[in-house]
Amino acid sequence: MINPNEYGSLLFDDKEKEYLSNVIDSRRIFRYSRTDYPYTKMCEEKICELVNSKYALCTTNGTSSLKSAMVGAGVSYGDRVLISSYTFLATALSAIALGATAVPIDVDLDYGLNLEDLENEIKKGCKAVVAVHFQGRTFDLSKVVELCKKYNVMLIEDACQAFGSKYKDTYAGTFGDIGVYSFQQFKQITCGEGGCCVTNNEAVFNRMRNYTDMGSTRDRFPSWNSEEALFGENYRMNNLCSAVLYSQLEKLDDVILRQRKSRSNIMSKLSNINNILTSKDSSGDTCMNIVIILNDKNNKEDVINYGKELDIEFRNMWSSLYYDNDLFRRNNLTSIDIKNNECSYTKDLIEKMLVISIPPILSSDDEDIIVNAINGIKEKGYLS
Ligand SMILES: Cc1ncc(COP(=O)(O)O)c(C=O)c1O
Repeated sequence: MINPNEYGSLLFDDKEKEYLSNVIDSRRIFRYSRTDYPYTKMCEEKICELVNSKYALCTTNGTSSLKSAMVGAGVSYGDRVLISSYTFLATALSAIALGATAVPIDVDLDYGLNLEDLENEIKKGCKAVVAVHFQGRTFDLSKVVELCKKYNVMLIEDACQAFGSKYKDTYAGTFGDIGVYSFQQFKQITCGEGGCCVTNNEAVFNRMRNYTDMGSTRDRFPSWNSEEALFGENYRMNNLCSAVLYSQLEKLDDVILRQRKSRSNIMSKLSNINNILTSKDSSGDTCMNIVIILNDKNNKEDVINYGKELDIEFRNMWSSLYYDNDLFRRNNLTSIDIKNNECSYTKDLIEKMLVISIPPILSSDDEDIIVNAINGIKEKGYLS
C-alpha cells in the first residue's frame, strides 16, 4: 500500500536506536530507577512544554491513561460518564471497567459534542464528560468547557487520535481538566504502546499518578497508610518505551510538516469535491489523513476495492457505532445508557466515512496516485 496507516514510525532512524541503547547500556529500565537516562520523566517534561500543560503522566497505553484520567476526575462505581459517540470502544470500556455507566452523546463537527444532548444528559447527573478529538483534528471546545463549568463537571478529552493538533493555539487535550494521548503504532507518533494524561490540576495529577502506581504515593513509597492512597493498578511506562517516544517527540514537528505538505499538494489537485471533512482551524490539523464522506454507505465496499486496484487504502475506520456490536448486545446493554440518544449524526458519519492516510513519506508520484484515486471516486458518482 502506498498510504499505510502509520506515521511517526516511518521516520524511525538511528536516534531511536541510540536512545534505546542508552537505556540498555544503563541497565535501568524501570522509570523510577536512578539513571542518567530517565526518558519517561523527560517525555513528560517535553509533553508539558509542547502542549502547554503543567503536569503530564506517561502510562502503558491510551486506554490506561483514559482509565487513570477518569479516576483522576473522581469517577467510580455507579457514576455516569458522558462520552462522545464518535469513538473507539476503549473510551467507553475505560468507564465500564471502573463500574461506571457510559452515556453516548452525539457529535457536532464544530463543537465536538452536540451541546443540546450534552446539557440534557448533564442535568440528569454525571461525574465526567469525555470529548473525543478525531483523526488529527480538534474542535472549538469552548462551549463544552462552559457547560462543564456551569454544572461543575470534569471535562476529559480523549485526544488519542490527535496528539499535536490544535484549535487556535490551544492543543487538543488542554481545553478541559484532563487530556489523554495514545502513542500506539498507528498514532501520530509512536512507541508501540504508550499513553499520557495531561492536566493543570495538582490534586487530579496526584490521584492519576497514584492510581497508575498501585495506589501508593510515589515520593513516600510505599505509603498505603497515607490518606492519599487508593486502590490502584500498575500502568507505569518503562524507559525502553519512553526512549523511543522521546525520539519521536523530537520528530513531531517534522512528521506534521511532511503530512501538511503532502495533504496540501493533494488537495490542490483534487476536482471540486464537497464531501471532505474539514477542520474548524485547518492550521491546527496534523493532516494525517483525508476523510471522505460517501454519498451512500452502500458504496463503501466498491470504493475500498477500487482503492486496492490502485494500491491505495481507503480505510473503513469503524463500520458502526461502538455500542452497536455483539459485545454490548450479549450483555443486554448493561453499563451503557442509550435510552435517550440515537446519535444519528455520528451513525451517519461513521457509516459513510472512509479514511485515506497521509503518511509522512509520500513522494510526489504517490501523492498523484492518491489524487487520481479520489478524483476517480468522484467520477464514479460516489462523492459529490
Ligand atoms: C479515540 C481513541 N481512544 C482510545 C484509544 C486507545 O488507545 P490505546 O490503543 O493506546 O490503548 C484509541 C486507540 O486506538 C482511540 O482511537
